Amino acid sequence: MKLINAGEEKIKDISEYGLVVVGSGVACGRWVNEAEDFLKKFRKDFENKKLALFVSSVEPIPKKEGDTAEVSKMHKIVGG
Ligand SMILES: Cc1cc2nc3c(=O)[nH]c(=O)nc-3n(C[C@H](O)[C@H](O)[C@H](O)COP(=O)(O)O)c2cc1C
Repeated sequence: MKLINAGEEKIKDISEYGLVVVGSGVACGRWVNEAEDFLKKFRKDFENKKLALFVSSVEPIPKKEGDTAEVSKMHKIVGG
């Protein structure tokens, strides 16, 4: 298992991982750039992996877990 801060460490290859968990704080209704860029960069790789997304924000979660607008937006990026 490897834990990184996407703002501090640039990852070139995720091929050795079967599960990737990507989370972000929300600022002004958006994921932070580093987390969004990470998802875009490895979009193709996620087709063959398990991917879990989460956000940390002050807004209440309006619907069931995993169905916030912020997470849905990222699902669209990775095609989920
Ligand atoms: C500048 C700024 C903008 C933020 N905008 C939002 C927002 O639009 N919606 C929201 O729910 N929370 C917002 N928050 C709260 C953060 O999402 C919350 O503090 C986050 O869970 C913690 O992330 P952090 O550890 O990077 O501070 C904002 C916080 C800051 C500092």
